[in-house]
Amino acid sequence: MRHIMLELANKRIVLGLTGGIACYKVAEFVRRAGEQGATIDVVMTQAATQFITPVTMQALSGRPVYIDPWDSRVPNNMAHINLTRGADAILIAPASTDFLAKLAHGMADDLLSTLCVARGNCPLLVAPAMNREMWLNPATQRNVALLRQDAVQLLGPAEGEQACGEVGSGRMIEPDQILSELVAFFQPKTLAGKCVLITAGPTSERIDPVRVITNRSSGKTGYAIARAAREAGAKVILVSGPTALPTPYGVTRLNVESARQMHAAVMDHARDSDIFISVAAVADWHVVNSSDQKLKKTAGGGAPQLEFAPNPDILAEVAALEGGPWCVGFAAETENLDEYAEAKRRRKGVPLLVGNLAHKVMDADITELVLFEDSGRSSLTPQPKLQAARALVQAISQRLPR
Ligand code: CTP
Repeated sequence: MRHIMLELANKRIVLGLTGGIACYKVAEFVRRAGEQGATIDVVMTQAATQFITPVTMQALSGRPVYIDPWDSRVPNNMAHINLTRGADAILIAPASTDFLAKLAHGMADDLLSTLCVARGNCPLLVAPAMNREMWLNPATQRNVALLRQDAVQLLGPAEGEQACGEVGSGRMIEPDQILSELVAFFQPKTLAGKCVLITAGPTSERIDPVRVITNRSSGKTGYAIARAAREAGAKVILVSGPTALPTPYGVTRLNVESARQMHAAVMDHARDSDIFISVAAVADWHVVNSSDQKLKKTAGGGAPQLEFAPNPDILAEVAALEGGPWCVGFAAETENLDEYAEAKRRRKGVPLLVGNLAHKVMDADITELVLFEDSGRSSLTPQPKLQAARALVQAISQRLPR
């Protein structure tokens, strides 16, 4: 059974395009946001129509596109009012230098700028896109500061190569990142102002330069929790063993391989964190006699003798820190979940331990999380990983000491 959850179901978004080459990327965003259930009303400035046609935007959004404030298709001739009333958000992408200036100063000389001034309580998000010198220009920076004061949310800009060939800050963030930010915007900010440290994925212990011992872990649960925590308004540091997953937008990721590297990275940040969520499948041992050169087969066909030593227990160590973060452990078990998980919670000294049955979890779409804490055991509804992660983040925020 496939569980499809549309991230933008029942959301009506007014999408404003202004003049910039990044308009072509916004076409992709419209398609993706539509797949997630959003209804999108596209409004373009005249400059935007130089970069992409209204026909393209109409075909992708499946709705009329608005450009002209005197559009005779609008019976009362008040598109600037009609479009904003009942909208869940206005998103300007790409937002040009000129448009940011107009927004900051409340100018209203075309349909898009007018509807922004007429927006009332409708939230406004803007994704700037411009040359780096235009972004760094003191006037632009002043305008951005004014927009922040007015509670306009800025998405990006990103650093990187620009259409003009220069390299620097000012690029529009990618369409999938705009989509993640829009979805995040609608999540409750239960962890605003908190710093959350998360470990995820497996660790990998070296035998020689080409061989390792590792645990099976895709990292998906830890990455979903990192995304959910960031959506809830937290600053998130994700210490990750080797995985094939993309970093959730807005999350700081530190890559490690071995358990000892993971331990060092975690200890660097633990004291500055409010919450530590230990999702990684940490290898329990490392190979003491690992080789710097590839081990060769011997003539007699004998197997190498590996010697193991225990790895540090990262979670237990963080939980024992005085004034350390509020700790959440995980236990993926293959049997006797209740008994093992509660014993593990006590052994590690953590207030909350999240259990799941490993054979149900590995690469599965649906996750069932069981919470073990002083007050007993409770289960969260089985659901797709990201939703389960959001429910867990919510549960954590409710349990944090005030
Ligand atoms: N953990 C850790 N450091 C380790 C081992 C585990 O931080 N060296 C954390 C995991 O990230 C998880 C919890 O401790 O949050 C439980 O991990 P698990 O591997 O299930 O427990 P172990 O202590 O290794 O116990 P066992 O292997 O006997 O089940």
